[in-house]
Amino acid sequence: MTDPAPALQASRLYAAYHQQPVLEDISLSLPQGQWTAIVGPNGAGKSSLLNLVIGSLAPLRGELRILGNSPAAQRRAGNIAYMAQQENMEWDFPISVRETVLTGRYGMMRHDPLWRRLLPRYWANPSHRQAVEAALEAVDMADHAARPIGELSGGQKKRVMLARALAQQAKILLLDEPLAGVDPPSEALILETLERERAAGRTVIMVTHDMQGARRHADNVMLINRTLIGMGPPEEMLSDAMLARLAVGTPSTEHGRVPVAA
Ligand SMILES: Nc1ncnc2c1ncn2[C@@H]1O[C@H](COP(=O)(O)OP(=O)(O)OP(=O)(O)O)[C@@H](O)[C@H]1O
Ligand SMILES: [Mg+2]
Repeated sequence: MTDPAPALQASRLYAAYHQQPVLEDISLSLPQGQWTAIVGPNGAGKSSLLNLVIGSLAPLRGELRILGNSPAAQRRAGNIAYMAQQENMEWDFPISVRETVLTGRYGMMRHDPLWRRLLPRYWANPSHRQAVEAALEAVDMADHAARPIGELSGGQKKRVMLARALAQQAKILLLDEPLAGVDPPSEALILETLERERAAGRTVIMVTHDMQGARRHADNVMLINRTLIGMGPPEEMLSDAMLARLAVGTPSTEHGRVPVAA
């Protein structure tokens, strides 16, 4: 049997906005089924890296393969569920918690037969309904399903957006700061939910500023400050020495550099 393709493989990856470099020379490989925490200072390029993974930002140079294929193809195939960083999100639209989670299934609905697509979305296909209800249960938001999303607290909104990602039942869960601004019980619930997802064989990639959470739950920590500073087990990456390197942006020559094929 051949080895499964890495969840993510980057070779000499560069990215820029309007010619301004944002990520430089990133080479790494992440196996499937693991939990990786991406850690780095504000403006380090963490969200930009996730944008490359979902194919919404094109690399300037280098190559990025997701599950052995292009990011756009994997996104289209429904293999990547993405939860965006939500700082600038407007919430005052009249949509319920349940409908918000259901929007995570919209991409899959184009595979439904036409007669099903003509029905109201929620009833169109029982698998969508079941996925939405299971995801709401997983984040303990089933009791709030009919409420408008705008009415919820910050932590509850995060839980709903996580449910939206879970409902996609994708192989890779890509989460941009799912723990930012949440209360301790929500944080514990989110981490527990992600533990279950990993145990079910999914790959979890999470941007976080929460070192304790990363130390306790992640299999790998990726340190990013415009380039890859290091990648490895949390106890090595979250040492004082590595965090000092992260702060000044000096890559480690020993950690996480994967050989690039000539
Ligand atoms: N759409 C964009 N157009 C131009 N510049 C951008 C854009 N998005 C991000 N940048 C810039 O790219 C750099 C990296 O931003 P990015 O959002 O990836 O950082 P981050 O590590 O996610 O930061 P934070 O921890 O604050 O979320 C920043 O200097 C930012 O201003
Ligand atoms: Mg960010």
